[in-house]
Amino acid sequence: MLEKQRITILGSTGSIGKSALDVVRHYPDRFEVVGLAAHQNISLLLKQIAEFQPACVAVSDPNALAALRQHDPPTTVLDDDRPLESLATIPVDTVLCAVVGAVGLRPLLAAIDAGNRVAVANKEPFVMAGRLVMERARKRGVEVLPVDSEHNAIFQCIHGHEQSDVACIHLTASGGPFYGRERSALEEVLPEEATKHPTWDMGAKISVDSATLMNKGLEIIEAMWLFDLPAEQIDVVIHPQSIIHSLVEFRDGNILAHLGVTDMKFPILFALTYPERVELPMKRLDLTAMKALTFDVPDFSAFPCLALARQAAITGGTAPAILNAANEEAVSAFCDHRLGFLQISDVVDAVCSMIESSSGYHLEAVLAVDQRAREAAQGVIARYAL
Ligand SMILES: NC(=O)c1ccc[n+]([C@@H]2O[C@H](COP(=O)([O-])OP(=O)(O)OC[C@H]3O[C@@H](n4cnc5c(N)ncnc54)[C@H](OP(=O)(O)O)[C@@H]3O)[C@@H](O)[C@H]2O)c1
Repeated sequence: MLEKQRITILGSTGSIGKSALDVVRHYPDRFEVVGLAAHQNISLLLKQIAEFQPACVAVSDPNALAALRQHDPPTTVLDDDRPLESLATIPVDTVLCAVVGAVGLRPLLAAIDAGNRVAVANKEPFVMAGRLVMERARKRGVEVLPVDSEHNAIFQCIHGHEQSDVACIHLTASGGPFYGRERSALEEVLPEEATKHPTWDMGAKISVDSATLMNKGLEIIEAMWLFDLPAEQIDVVIHPQSIIHSLVEFRDGNILAHLGVTDMKFPILFALTYPERVELPMKRLDLTAMKALTFDVPDFSAFPCLALARQAAITGGTAPAILNAANEEAVSAFCDHRLGFLQISDVVDAVCSMIESSSGYHLEAVLAVDQRAREAAQGVIARYAL
């Protein structure tokens, strides 16, 4: 009989977490869910506990934790100071990192330090501290598998090739819900419109990042660390159909592309079962139904976040951490109707100019600059609200 793969999912109540549990549902004999973690969504977590019977759960919000305890769920509820980190250290085959934002950094490092293989959807920790994450993984001999569809695609295209033969990576971007619009036409955009992505169904923060194109900027930085390439060897091409998930160009001019349907279950299954290839009984790409695959250059003036992220990538050191913190604060303010859509990039730009970056990349340096950038962003956001 096949030995079950033990997995922990950090962020099980989110878009990626739910897709991962859908994958698990397809293969009851293959996966054992050891741990689940959420922030606030206790009602969904309780359903997941009942269905998947994890040995342990962690909840990061103290009020939600107290509410969960009142239900006396049939599992161990971790309640130390850093429950997600504790959960991440429990020995498993793979920890799927699928929380949103910088809060995922410590649990990701905890999983790596404990020797757990990590499948990473949560891109912000890579943006903040990619060098630190990869250095720790190398030292601990831990595999880091990308779940983000573009990076998962690149991982598959690059596999078996010499890294020195890679000329560049082309990250594809759908262009988001506002592709083709002038900047002036984005003034009145509401969160409800920005979170409606044309090709992917995702959480609110990444949907807004896709609308501003910051998501693609964050992905440039994520790719730098995952594939050990400078920003200059990573470009972005708009591909509205989202069929090609990214491409790798080799120095002899050959280009390999990864094609697939827009469903995160495919990269999630790939990462969880790597290096095996497992049949997924889901809708496949119908090649003859595709009428066109089109490509375009990004509009840097309508979507300045992409250029800001590229600049932070080139500057290096703590610059990407500053960019990420400012963006998280600005997106959160936009979702709360405290900031306009166009002001997201203004806030990020202002904070990146206000705070000097350094070459430090250790955890303390990264967390300190993250905090400073958030405070600065709050100040800028408050000025806009006046
Ligand atoms: N969705 C996609 O298709 C996709 C694709 C590629 C990459 N990603 C990346 O994957 C990550 C997750 O994205 P998502 O779309 O799944 O986000 P999401 O739907 O918003 O889910 C976020 C998850 O993180 C938890 N969470 C939120 N705040 C937290 C906190 N302070 N501490 C601990 N946990 C917290 C949430 O718990 P509650 O539900 O309890 O609040 C939820 O489980 C992001 O970094 C995103 O960039 C997503």
